[in-house]
Amino acid sequence: MADLKLTDVEKTYGGTVNVLNDINLDIKTGELIVFVGPSGCGKSTLLRMIAGLEKITGGTLEIDGQRMNDVPPSQRGIAMVFQSYALYPHMTVRDNMTFALKIAKKSKEEIDAAVAKAAKILQLEPYLDRLPKALSGGQRQRVAIGRSIVRDPKVYLFDEPLSNLDAALRVATRIEIAQLKEQMPDSTMIYVTHDQVEAMTLATRIVVLANKGIAQVGSPLDLYERPNSEFVARFIGSPSMNLLPGEITGTGQQTSIRLDGGGTAVSDVPSRSEDMGLKVNVGVRPEDLVEATDSFVFEGKVNITEALGEVTLLYFEAQGGGEPVIGKLPGIHKDRRGKTVRLTADPTKVHIFYNEVSLLYR
Ligand SMILES: Nc1ncnc2c1ncn2[C@@H]1O[C@H](COP(=O)(O)OP(=O)(O)OP(=O)(O)O)[C@@H](O)[C@H]1O
Ligand SMILES: [Mg+2]
Repeated sequence: MADLKLTDVEKTYGGTVNVLNDINLDIKTGELIVFVGPSGCGKSTLLRMIAGLEKITGGTLEIDGQRMNDVPPSQRGIAMVFQSYALYPHMTVRDNMTFALKIAKKSKEEIDAAVAKAAKILQLEPYLDRLPKALSGGQRQRVAIGRSIVRDPKVYLFDEPLSNLDAALRVATRIEIAQLKEQMPDSTMIYVTHDQVEAMTLATRIVVLANKGIAQVGSPLDLYERPNSEFVARFIGSPSMNLLPGEITGTGQQTSIRLDGGGTAVSDVPSRSEDMGLKVNVGVRPEDLVEATDSFVFEGKVNITEALGEVTLLYFEAQGGGEPVIGKLPGIHKDRRGKTVRLTADPTKVHIFYNEVSLLYR
């Protein structure tokens, strides 16, 4: 059981390299918080500051109301699982898991009980007497997680724990982590990943980090349905949200936009009368575009199609040097290649950004 509170946390490496500022975050017992963001944005740095492996150069970290800035890592009640899990090769699974407990001089009964619990949760019972070299990558990663579970920490930190695994194993281990979380409802977890699906499926809340700070915090569907900026809109969801430039031509409960490409969009995002004529970007996710019968949001020539089985991606010819618009239609539509296609979107699915910020959040 642990609440975490970060207040105005900042990190400057070596007195000069500032990488994080103004990090304010309240994490409640039982949450699984996922950090996402572009490479180098400071996800690992933030995790390592929480663990105590990196000095906090500004602001405060509290765990259950106690200031932790100067508390050594071993006394924070935190366990961290890294991407490269570095098991001791000459020790059995059991010994790898119990090493830290032996160092801490726990009794044999305590150690046996902790291993039995972790092995059951992680389905490692058949492997306890094997060496790591006789395990698959996924099993080894489970041992690394087991090593943290036996310590019964208040907070689990995971830094891209699945990124060394192949695609099938990633899916299996992701589901195991979700089940692990369910079996330990009072544990607090913070999880760093580059993987959209991991972020969307595991998180109670996602924290998007960018430009040395927090771009947005919210439940996965909050971020997907109501991104506060073009950055978050394009970062969450794959392929990324399309952005189409245009001008507001109708305001009120709904907003109409005439698009530079010739189409018209209607959005359920409300606007004010003074917004008339505003130059904006309309955002529509590829999966929210549907083939139009009369009025359309976007019209273009399909350059390439990618048939993925359940959906077909349509890549349109880029207009004016911009990124190509992408449509994602259910089913198989290879015949659209080379054709001109008109697409539209439901007003509930049309986002509007002014100066890169969503009109919902101004
Ligand atoms: N010891 C250090 N000294 C100086 N700068 C550092 C140090 N460690 C990390 N950095 C810088 O801090 C920034 C954040 O690094 P960090 O490892 O936290 O990024 P990340 O978000 O985890 O990236 P990735 O997704 O690639 O793992 C980077 O620009 C990195 O170059
Ligand atoms: Mg990292």
